[in-house]
Amino acid sequence: MCGIIASIFKNQAVLPFLLEGLKKEEYRGYDSCGVAIIEPHKIHIQKEIGRIEKLKEHLFTSSSKVGIGHTRWATHGKNNLNNAHPHISNKGLFCLVHNGTIYNYQEIKEDLLNKGYLFYSQTDTECIVNLLEHFYLQCGDILSSLNELDKTLKGTYVLCILFKEENRIYFLKKSTPLMLGKSKNGLHLSSDMRALELATDYLDIEDNEYGFIDENHYEIYKAQKRIEKKLYKIQKEKEDTNQVIPSFYMEKEIHEIPMVIDRIIKHYQNDFDIKIKEVIKKANNLIFVGSGTSYHAALRGSLYFENKNVQVILASEFDLNSIKNDNALYIFLSQSGETLDVLKVLEKVSHYDTLGISNVANSSLLRKCKYALEMKAKEEVAVASTKAYVAEVLLLYLLAKGINQNTLQNLKDIQQEIKDHLLHQEKILSIAESIKNKENAYFLAKGKDIYLCKEASLKLKEVTYIHSECLFAGELKHGPIALLEKDFPIFFITSLKNKENLNSAIEEVTAREGIPYIFTYDEHNPLGYLPLITDFFLLSFHLAKMRKKDVDKPRNLAKSVTVD
Ligand code: M6R
Repeated sequence: MCGIIASIFKNQAVLPFLLEGLKKEEYRGYDSCGVAIIEPHKIHIQKEIGRIEKLKEHLFTSSSKVGIGHTRWATHGKNNLNNAHPHISNKGLFCLVHNGTIYNYQEIKEDLLNKGYLFYSQTDTECIVNLLEHFYLQCGDILSSLNELDKTLKGTYVLCILFKEENRIYFLKKSTPLMLGKSKNGLHLSSDMRALELATDYLDIEDNEYGFIDENHYEIYKAQKRIEKKLYKIQKEKEDTNQVIPSFYMEKEIHEIPMVIDRIIKHYQNDFDIKIKEVIKKANNLIFVGSGTSYHAALRGSLYFENKNVQVILASEFDLNSIKNDNALYIFLSQSGETLDVLKVLEKVSHYDTLGISNVANSSLLRKCKYALEMKAKEEVAVASTKAYVAEVLLLYLLAKGINQNTLQNLKDIQQEIKDHLLHQEKILSIAESIKNKENAYFLAKGKDIYLCKEASLKLKEVTYIHSECLFAGELKHGPIALLEKDFPIFFITSLKNKENLNSAIEEVTAREGIPYIFTYDEHNPLGYLPLITDFFLLSFHLAKMRKKDVDKPRNLAKSVTVD
């Protein structure tokens, strides 16, 4: 799950652009990073453990116009320099960066070891670069070697490749996204649209396509046949020129929730596209798909579709054989629109009606779904998703209930309540202060409130590293109560109306000197629980800060999970 950027410029040095691009892709993984450039008859590589800023500090200078870059989220092998990308082949002919996972790499490695190849890393990627070199030394042709490589590799892969003797960048793609961009300065490849900032036009490289870019043109092949593909204009949103870099994006993004509500109201007040309304109206069966926070938003938001048959499926657990209704509308939720688990489901069901909901206009999800809706939450930078959760739930609410005076008023009322919660954080801060040294917490609820607990619990563990679990309140006594001890924090979430249903669980907690924190909301407004989730976002943020954790980039995580 990595970010890839590759560029060939006509008249300017490539390194600064690679660094800029990698910075934008850092959300895809930040274990290590690296770049490689072509200098006459030589490939020059530099890698660093950790962030792009560190690479920048120690980077060599070069006026080379051809280069590739990578930011890594470790899958195969520890996070060390040997395992960082780019990887170079034994004879130094090829150097490449890879995003994806090779399932048959052990087999390939053994075969190459028998042929005398040496390996210096524990990665699957090093097998690819050596296999490519091996094919090339047999046939003397890079494009044919790429076709061979595509036939041999099993798994997911986007590769951008330098060949020592040419000012070209070769590529090959299977299952994870790769875009080709054209700008007035040159040609570019990237796993992510946002790293293609200079580009004015783009095209998607599809599965099993390979080819190359040079400074003026590109060639694309599939199974040894050249294919013509046209470029599309990139639609760009106006830049916000007043952007100040905040101390913590997570905090900034939580505070932007009221603004997100405004944006949704403004953008959708004249109703959704008629085609989207019709497809929802005619569908009796809705299947929601998402991962992590987006899955939690789907669980809560899908409840608004009271008169439909609804299934909510975790993208990573999707199994087409278990889908009972053949005739369904698939609704995909993904902040980034690049989550591979989600895109893989989309691939399997693309012959059905599909609606993508994402925060990124040019994301793979929105490009590939038949119908597309933008969340309008504006870029979410912190790895922990906050404002996007709110946007997802609101869009599902509006899709289910329709856009009318009543539903819009509910949004406005809830916006006001959220503003009040953001202004009065004293209680949240004092809870954070009292539990900042704890290592465990439980979130308890009954019925549909469990979906909020799931999100609150995920957020807490994600940024504070406090172990937390989400449980049905009635289940506490059936086992989890064993962990309770003095001052163990337990968060209860309930609507005011159902509060007394939690009484016995609260008693069980106090009897064991645990500390119950009871959070209630008013169900008068069908969105009444959103101010509470804002409180839990804030609680996680303050705790992470008090515990001196990397709030915006928690360890082991990435903003967009592009491996399966
Ligand atoms: O971009 P997506 O919404 O598809 O991402 C899905 C999850 O990876 C994501 O929500 C993850 O759980 C967040 N880090 C949670 O804060």
